Amino acid sequence: MLTGKKVLLGVTGGIAAFKAASLCSKLVQQGAEVRVIMTESATRFVTELTLQALSKHPVYTDTFDEKNPQVIAHIDLADWADLVLIAPATANIIAKMAVGLGDDMLSTTLLATEAKIMLAPAMNVHMYTHPTVTRNLAELAARGVLMIEPGSGQLACGYTGKGRMEEPENIVAAVEAYFARRERAAQRPLTSRKVVVTAGGTIERLDPVRYITNDSSGKMGFAIAKAALDLGAEVTLVMGRTDAAPPIYREGLSLVRVESAQDMYEAVQGLWADTDILVKAAAVADYRPKQAAERKIKKSGDSMTLELVKNIDILEALGRNKTKQFLIGFAAETDHLEEHAMDKLRRKNCDLLVANDVTAEGAGFGTDTNIVHVYDANGLVLSIPRAPKEEIGLAILELVAARLTGESK
Ligand code: CTP
Repeated sequence: MLTGKKVLLGVTGGIAAFKAASLCSKLVQQGAEVRVIMTESATRFVTELTLQALSKHPVYTDTFDEKNPQVIAHIDLADWADLVLIAPATANIIAKMAVGLGDDMLSTTLLATEAKIMLAPAMNVHMYTHPTVTRNLAELAARGVLMIEPGSGQLACGYTGKGRMEEPENIVAAVEAYFARRERAAQRPLTSRKVVVTAGGTIERLDPVRYITNDSSGKMGFAIAKAALDLGAEVTLVMGRTDAAPPIYREGLSLVRVESAQDMYEAVQGLWADTDILVKAAAVADYRPKQAAERKIKKSGDSMTLELVKNIDILEALGRNKTKQFLIGFAAETDHLEEHAMDKLRRKNCDLLVANDVTAEGAGFGTDTNIVHVYDANGLVLSIPRAPKEEIGLAILELVAARLTGESK
């Protein structure tokens, strides 16, 4: 599975460093070329000689120990890697990465690399849940760093809880899944498909300076649009109010800005005949003020009553007019996830419905990660644990591509 793949293994100083030996051995057994960088503290737990013997290459520990005068080691390794895997990743390396410190061989290499980075954190449960560590992990996830969440159980420090590094065989499986996904994406399975993605929240005006909106940041829709482009599609991104910056222009991407639910409906309706896949990641207001005042409303009296009228349900309207289109709805829920998801899927005639529990940590509005469950008419198809929204976007569109090409999944 990993033949010819270049994996740079970073080992940092925690008790789980002893598992890095088994991890290195398993990666090599799967055909990967492995180079190892150890931090100074990692060498207190496991010797360089062990990892040298298992990777069959010298281990790097010191930025200034240049083994080959032809190259600068940390730049050379950074360029060499297809994937940088840090296992175990301590709170310290996570913090260094979050702020961009480069004070040893591993941290400087991490700054220099353009390869994907995957972390398998391991630490005491209180360290793992410390607000700074949580913030740093969120920052890294936002930059697209992949996480292999630690498991729960008996920790070396005596505590029981979350913080135990994932077992080496599961880390190898995550590495294999990453390369398999990359290879599938490289085949660009959505080439020549026209994808419309709606993102962000709608704005329903009360008067020229006031409006009703919601917390949608647009990040999930942007991630879907980017994933669709990566898979070869032509993408139109119909965006309402968003907090995040939309993807930078790339060939194949068109941007349409809208305000209200009605504007969004008109925009997607206009594209509908030529749409192959519609992803409705936008949070559309269900109601709008009955009348939008032409002038700024002046205050009067101690209370004010606002009359709202129902907006069109865009997804439902399009679901009724489906010909060739593949329709993906989203649902942000706070309770009874599956029940609401299945109800929306059927009511709106969607092919897939992506549901997320917005009350879960690391999921929902504004976050850079999400936790989603994907349903089709027969029930749950795919559950994606906490992952960067970009990864989730890719996984959803790969599922769509597999469905469209008839590969069952
Ligand atoms: N949606 C839409 N038009 C609307 C409302 C929602 O197209 N007027 C779409 C959203 O873009 C999303 C899906 O329908 O893909 C589900 O949105 P949600 O607000 O969860 O569904 P509602 O039908 O509004 O259900 P609820 O009663 O939970 O508000």
